[in-house]
Amino acid sequence: MQPIPFDNPEEKRRYVQAMFARMARYYDIMNRILSLGRDMAWRRTLVEWANVPDGGLVLDVAAGTGDVTRLLAERTPARLVVGLDFSEPMLRVAQWKLGRLLGMERVRLVQADGLRMPFADDTFDSVTSAFALRNAVDVAALFREMWRVLRPCGRVACMEICKPTAPVFRSLFALYFNRIVPLLGRALGRDAEAYTYLPESLNRFMSSGQVMRTLEQAGFHSVACQKLMLGTVAIYVGVK
Ligand SMILES: C[S@@+](CC[C@H](N)C(=O)[O-])C[C@H]1O[C@@H](n2cnc3c(N)ncnc32)[C@H](O)[C@@H]1O
Repeated sequence: MQPIPFDNPEEKRRYVQAMFARMARYYDIMNRILSLGRDMAWRRTLVEWANVPDGGLVLDVAAGTGDVTRLLAERTPARLVVGLDFSEPMLRVAQWKLGRLLGMERVRLVQADGLRMPFADDTFDSVTSAFALRNAVDVAALFREMWRVLRPCGRVACMEICKPTAPVFRSLFALYFNRIVPLLGRALGRDAEAYTYLPESLNRFMSSGQVMRTLEQAGFHSVACQKLMLGTVAIYVGVK
């Protein structure tokens, strides 16, 4: 298999975009399988941590197929939820799902780069993202852009996979993520390369302490981190 080109930011951006374009149709089912059926529960927790105010305006960055966007519309008192992603095929799935489930009255989908969002400063009351950080070419720039579009006192809530710290469980998790996940990707007849990228992207990603520091450097205060699923998933929050 070709080595995965992470080192050059533009290459990585194109790589990630092409990968999600290929995966869009089976992305949701693979999430359910690989998370052992837990991914929607994690997204529900993320939505609670977003602390959306009554009548608020919410942005879901890297919305993908719209699972978090949908939960924000269903479970919060938001006036409007905007789901943004740079992948047209992922947004097409989101459009189909959300149109069928919600009628889209309180949802807008926008195709754009999370590093250059087409919104004015101080627009949103809450900003969320799920499983976007590992895929971003510049996490610090992504946090700065989230900070820019949030209103003062607005809250960011970002969820990402992380490596557990408990010694024995850490080895079991590494075995699952580095060996079994790529095998499952291949065995289920899907994109073997995408499910090789998944563990590689985590191996190259920051520790949770580094993510929190990067949020603070972007300007957020009251930064905190809540771990889920035996420390394999983290939700980071901060306030502008
Ligand atoms: C792992 S998926 C997560 C999708 C969704 N948030 C979820 O909970 O399933 C990552 C998404 O990030 C998007 N993405 C990555 N980099 C992006 C960027 N710079 N701007 C916008 N979207 C981006 C990809 O297109 C993909 O849909």
